[in-house]
Amino acid sequence: MEFISECSVDAINKAAVALIAGNLVAFPTETVYGLGADATSEEAVSKIYKAKGRPADHPLIVHVPSLNSLPDWTVEIPEYAIRLARDFWPGPMTLVLKRSELARDFVTGGQNTVGLRVPNHPIALSLLKSFENLGGKGLAAPSANRFGAVSPTDAGAVKEELESHLNSEDIILDGGSCSVGVESTIVDCTGKSPRILRFGAVTPTEIKESTTFEVSDAENSKKVRVSGNLDSHYAPMARVELNRAPRQGEGFIALKGITTPSGVFRLIEPSDVAQYAEQLYLGLRKGDRLGLKVIVAMEPEGEGLALAIRDRLVRASN
Ligand code: TXA
Ligand code: MG
Repeated sequence: MEFISECSVDAINKAAVALIAGNLVAFPTETVYGLGADATSEEAVSKIYKAKGRPADHPLIVHVPSLNSLPDWTVEIPEYAIRLARDFWPGPMTLVLKRSELARDFVTGGQNTVGLRVPNHPIALSLLKSFENLGGKGLAAPSANRFGAVSPTDAGAVKEELESHLNSEDIILDGGSCSVGVESTIVDCTGKSPRILRFGAVTPTEIKESTTFEVSDAENSKKVRVSGNLDSHYAPMARVELNRAPRQGEGFIALKGITTPSGVFRLIEPSDVAQYAEQLYLGLRKGDRLGLKVIVAMEPEGEGLALAIRDRLVRASN
């Protein structure tokens, strides 16, 4: 594995060439780091499953350089999905749409739909453009962590997670810390109106404003195979417990204003909800690095991004 910390144009082109050759490239996005492979190559995509230790029937998100790629990957795009793509791409939102023939079973987990996203990060976008210039159609990229573990929000965490599972030809592109910090909002666009499958930085209110539809949420979507919907996910080694006073020797995650009892390891103290999202996974990893057995987290109140944080905390605590 090659770790590239200076992501020059040449380095990004080199990574695109590696992808065309069927290797893996971990790259930064605004949400979390992705582990990318040529989404049209079964052999390349199988390397993702192997490196992550992820069951093969879990669908992957295909990352594309712009909404102009939608017709390659999908059929029957509803009007409201186009509106969402126009309003929020590039950005932290994945659209689930009816798949075209290009989206094969090995990417969609055998489902008739495909998840698509245009990430909003300069390195991700230039990698996708460079890959496209070489004839590439899109990059399948789940979060760059082992299956079930906490998503990496910096390149060091990617290395920690995957170093021993990557081949010598694979590449990690270091683009610093991710600004959003939690995974994209996933919107199912296969019905008459949008349905949220996973909360993220694009909020239900924003989706409603963009599409003018009422938005239903993940509570009704248990049947869809979204791996992030498995009960235990996004979980550190430490046990995560919610909304109680932390005891001596435990880790603690809460908004600034909330004080730390003595003998407790304060892992992060974000000053607002956006910073909470940005630092959450860092805090969980820090707890593991300290070898803590228990991390107590106080859920933030409110709608929007707070919904995504509470969702990840509840899953981490299951
Ligand atoms: O922010 C993100 O979305 C990050 C960055 C790297 O883009 N990616 C990410 O990928 O979180 P992953 O694989 O860790 O989670 C993607 C989720 C999974 O829970 C998967 O089941 C769901 O998206 N998904 C993908 N395609 C789907 C489909 N066709 N139908 C339903 N869910 C789908
Ligand atoms: Mg993931």
